[in-house]
Order: sequence, then C-alpha cells, then structure tokens
Amino acid sequence: MKAGFIQFEPIFGEIDRNLERVESLIEKADADLLVLPELFNTGYLFTSKQEAIDLSEEVPGGKTTQMLCRMAREKNLYLVGGLAEKSGEKFFNSAVLVSPEGYVGTYRKVHLFFEETLWFDPGDKGFEVYDIGKCRLGIMICFDWIFPEAMRVLSLKGADIICHSSNLVLPFCQDAMITRCLENHVFAITANRTGTEKRGGESLHYTGKSQITGLGADLLYRAGGDTEEVGVVDIDVEMARDKKLNDYNNLFRDRRPEFYGDIR
Ligand code: ACM
Repeated sequence: MKAGFIQFEPIFGEIDRNLERVESLIEKADADLLVLPELFNTGYLFTSKQEAIDLSEEVPGGKTTQMLCRMAREKNLYLVGGLAEKSGEKFFNSAVLVSPEGYVGTYRKVHLFFEETLWFDPGDKGFEVYDIGKCRLGIMICFDWIFPEAMRVLSLKGADIICHSSNLVLPFCQDAMITRCLENHVFAITANRTGTEKRGGESLHYTGKSQITGLGADLLYRAGGDTEEVGVVDIDVEMARDKKLNDYNNLFRDRRPEFYGDIR
C-alpha cells in the first residue's frame, strides 16, 4: 500500500487556513494512507486553558473531522490527523482516523508533554489497533515515542503500521523510531510539523524530518527539517506480520513476560 505523511507549518489559531493548506496538500497526493501532524489544525503552543477550550472541537461533528472525512471520501484514502478534541467537560490532545466511508475512531494522547499537562486531560482510551483492510494500524502521538510500552502494546495487538502524529521539539525521536520499529518489526509513519511558534514569552522550534521507518533499522523516507512536504512510499504490509528474526529467534515468541512484572 502507498502510505506516508504530510509535513507543513500550521499557524496557531488559524484553523480555517490550516485546514485549507492541508486540503490542498491531500488533493495532490497519491496515497492509500496519509498521516498528519499532532494538533495540525490549531497549532501547538497554547498559552491558557481558555485557548484550548476555544480551539477544541467535537469529534466527529467538528469541522476538522468533517473536512478529513470529505477528503478521505473524495480521494479514496485513509487519514490520521491530530486535533484538540472537546468531549463534554474534557479536552484531549487527540488523533482521529477517517476512511473513505467516514469517521472510524479516535486516539487520545496518553503521555502528555510539558505544558500540555495544563491544557489537556490525559488520554483515557488506551491504545487501539484498527483493521482497515489493507493493513492494521495503530495510532500514537508525539511524546508517546519515549515510552516504549506504547509501540509495544500496539505491536502486540497486531499493528503493522504505527501512525505517529507529532510536533517534535527534541532531536531524538527520529533516530529512536528506528529502534522502536526494529524491536517490534513494524512500520512507522512519523508526521511532524515545521516552523517556530513564539507565544506568551515562550518559543518552540519544531524539527520537521518527518519519516517513514522500515522494519530492519532502515529509513524508507526522511523529509527536510523545514520543508513543506508530502512523503509517500510503497509498504509491503505483510512483512510486518512475520516476527521471525532468524532460525532461532522470534521477536514476540521469545518474550519472557513472566520476568517483566516489575514494569507495572
Ligand atoms: C510532543 O509531545 N509534542 C513533544
């Protein structure tokens, strides 16, 4: 299947502009699955809880999810994209999955980073794997990468491809994803944003370099650090289903969970 990412620079608070930008990039893409960055519709650097409240949307009724559903239908593809979700009195840093037939599901970020902990509620739905026919995909968001448990759980639940919506500010993730994919024998699509946000006396620079990571410590695609870019590669999904490392070792069969109990 043809799978990839959209890397661009969202402008904080300008939801309509950001949706238009993404729409025109999806329009030109040739893919079965595209992953968009974390909070791609709002931008990242909130300065108050009120901003998070004002910019959050209901899922699937809000305009961002509706735009994604329309694009998925028109282009006959699957989309994963990060947005600020309002659910009753709660606000989540979420990513939605939509198909050509409409809304499929939502992942709510489990491991909140830095001041996100002030604006958002921690994810309450855990890690889910979606069988979309062409592949089984799992979703995680940005900082989840630093907890190997996130990708491990998704992989043990059968994910072939990890869709990783991101707003990366530390320089470590892209290289770490090579190890995450190697240890789980899964593909990953890390969709990062670019640019610098300066708000409320703070400044964050996002590292770009979105990437599609292969199974064997190989990089299938890495974008530039500050380019607007749509990266797509052909992925042989079946390869992720065989966890055999050599004639003697299988990555999942050889696990010894009876010795891992202290993790809890
Ligand atoms: C992050 O989780 N946005 C670094």
